[in-house]
Amino acid sequence: MSNDAITKVGLIGAGQMGRGIAQVFATASFAVTLCDSNAAALATAQKEILISLKKLQEKNLLAAQSPDDIIKRILFSQDLQAMQGCDLVVEAIVENLVAKQKLYGQLKTMMQDRPNIIVVSNTSALSIATLQAYSPNPQYFLGLHFMNPAPLMPLVEIITTAATARGHAQMIKELVEKKLAKQAVMIHDSPGFLLNRLLVPYLNEAVKLLEGGVASRDDIDKAMMLGAGYKMGPLALLDFIGLDTCESILRSLGADTAQDHYQPAAMLVDLVRQGHLGRKTKKGFYDY
Ligand code: NAI
Repeated sequence: MSNDAITKVGLIGAGQMGRGIAQVFATASFAVTLCDSNAAALATAQKEILISLKKLQEKNLLAAQSPDDIIKRILFSQDLQAMQGCDLVVEAIVENLVAKQKLYGQLKTMMQDRPNIIVVSNTSALSIATLQAYSPNPQYFLGLHFMNPAPLMPLVEIITTAATARGHAQMIKELVEKKLAKQAVMIHDSPGFLLNRLLVPYLNEAVKLLEGGVASRDDIDKAMMLGAGYKMGPLALLDFIGLDTCESILRSLGADTAQDHYQPAAMLVDLVRQGHLGRKTKKGFYDY
């Protein structure tokens, strides 16, 4: 199958990732349907996509397109049935295995007459093989892991298993690189894939330094920015990613590797329990 057959793209989950990925596809002229079970998330997505597009326009990064033209390509919908008309569906709901399994069950029932529809996941760290077993058309399932914020970050991880159809990942890679103007890396399914396997344990260590009183929040972030050349310190990055997402990634890494090393720091778990998830709730290690 050629990626030219993909013209209509569905996104499920209109949180920070789903809306960013929707924006990427719409900017590349795909017809996009962005679906979320929560009406408020859809309203926020519409607002945030427009803000993001206007900022890109101010920096001359939208070529000749206007933000209005791009956002017109996105249909905002609460109805999962809208995914029926898509060629490619990117799942970007909460990082929770049970929630994703339930959603895939609904999609499977809905898509029985669509043997060619491609469903992929933007999961940060859940096993692709596990999700694949629940997905519609498993031979076309893979991890399509965009980075945050999707409109700005050039990297996409493509994660496959032995059950992924031959040539399929290459077709998706070409779509990512030629149509979305991103760069892809190919990864075999493995705990945390590549980027999060390296990044998230580092973030967790930063929280352990903070809770152990080794250094202040600001000095931890300052040290990694000025000493290691990172654009953002680890605690600010945790807030940016979402503390709930980071806790889920650590729990997946712990479960999939059977290593205590990935146990989430107590302070991280406490903040999540209190509903302080970072930027998206306006409070995490910092206030927003
Ligand atoms: P988020 O919490 O910002 O958004 C999740 C959205 O999913 C919410 O709007 C929620 O209403 C919606 N949702 C939940 N269940 C649903 C269902 N059954 N049907 C439709 N919508 C549903 O989460 P975020 O950060 O956008 O993450 C989404 C996925 O992307 C997760 O798998 C996460 O691990 C992954 N990811 C996150 C990154 C990050 O930096 N936050 C980076 C790369 C991947």
